[in-house]
Amino acid sequence: MGENTDVATIHLSNTNQSVSLPLLHGTLGPAVIDIRKLYGELGVFTYDPGYGATASCESKITYIDGDEGVLLYRGYPIEQLAEHSTFLEVAYLLLNGELPSRAEYEEFERGVMRHTMLHEQLRSFFNGFRRDAHPMAVLCGVVGALSAFYHDSPDINNPEHRRISAFRLIAKVPTIAAWAYKYSIGQPFMYPRNDLSFAENFLYMMYAVPPEPYHVNPVLARAMDRIFILHADHEQNASTSTVRLAGSTGANPFACIAAGIASLWGPAHGGANEAVLKMLEEIGHVDRIPEFLAKVKDKNSNVRLMGFGHRVYKNYDPRAKIMQRTCHEVLNELGIKDDPLLDLAVELERIALNDDYFISRKLYPNVDFYSGIILRAMGFPVSMFTALFAVARTVGWVSQWKEMMEDPAQRIGRPRQLYIGAPRRDYVPLSARS
Ligand code: CMC
Repeated sequence: MGENTDVATIHLSNTNQSVSLPLLHGTLGPAVIDIRKLYGELGVFTYDPGYGATASCESKITYIDGDEGVLLYRGYPIEQLAEHSTFLEVAYLLLNGELPSRAEYEEFERGVMRHTMLHEQLRSFFNGFRRDAHPMAVLCGVVGALSAFYHDSPDINNPEHRRISAFRLIAKVPTIAAWAYKYSIGQPFMYPRNDLSFAENFLYMMYAVPPEPYHVNPVLARAMDRIFILHADHEQNASTSTVRLAGSTGANPFACIAAGIASLWGPAHGGANEAVLKMLEEIGHVDRIPEFLAKVKDKNSNVRLMGFGHRVYKNYDPRAKIMQRTCHEVLNELGIKDDPLLDLAVELERIALNDDYFISRKLYPNVDFYSGIILRAMGFPVSMFTALFAVARTVGWVSQWKEMMEDPAQRIGRPRQLYIGAPRRDYVPLSARS
């Protein structure tokens, strides 16, 4: 494949045909080859399982430089947002492209917080689940069920309907997640409190009980808010691509977000925070790290160092650094001087970062490596970790869905394949088969 600044030329040696394809340049990041006319001109597809070299859309929302460990939301570095912003301000930014004025922020906050309640009939959905249901199963089902409730705003081509659906999703997913937890422990559901901030309200719905006053610890609320900011968006990851693909068919937005939740659940994606904690508990002691890492390096074991490695980051995940700092703040606030799991994680990270297996493959800690330790210290059961990720990522999913719906070039997502099955053959009646 030859190329100059504007085009890439593909030459097929078997037919001696060539095509020149435009190179498209974004504001940051590598240029992309626009292959849309490739099949029409040369009769071939591209092959990229896992989409490691495929840009599936144009987007103005999030930028990642995986080699340098950079993450920008609408151009703003994640470090600055985590330090100075709030989750709802970041939500506004992701959805609308710019930081809000004070008046815009207040209107947005009111808009989201006015939608935190669930339709009372949704309560009965929870009773249909076993008590020991995984919160992600509950979230997937109940968020999907929201699609049956809002007949006042069904038109995805109407910007006002899209705006209301976005508010409802951002506001209601935390309530559903907290109620999934309450259901699992048999406590009454706590109705949301709109006088609290987004993160405070979430902690309140999780931990308050009706007979007692509940005071949200401001340090923990700030940590929660920061964790939400860090998870809010991450460009075209598996769950976001799932939401876009489902949305590209014109499907109901609540159903699309339920599809995103399903995709997030897997241990290679959002389920990794849960898997890290289980891994640390299984290792149990620093003395057993070498034995565990030997298993990780054994090709036949299928064991991975959870919370390490990333499809895009070939450097330290910038979110992991912030998470590590937040971890110390939370443990200090809670007076936890010594957390054996944190000591174990720090030592595991140190050993892995000096081990040739991880160095040569550019495997660094990702956002999930430390998040589980913080969340556990804050009282979250391990099974809730991925649900918290979903609460935050709903903002990213909704922003990406909205961007896609507003894109005039949007078409149904429909990948092709390299068919390696049987060639054409004739049906053989059962009686004639041996
Ligand atoms: N432990 C051990 N080896 C690993 C790991 C790991 N965590 N991650 C990648 N590798 C090895 C892999 O075996 C392969 O080695 P080789 O070249 O010898 O075959 C090489 O590194 C490349 O791995 P890959 O599977 O081709 O990489 P990928 O881009 O397809 O996978 C990943 C990315 C995140 C799924 C993977 O790194 C992984 O499974 N990590 C653990 C799970 C995890 O922490 N996921 C959270 C990701 S961040 C939050 C999110 O996205 O939700």
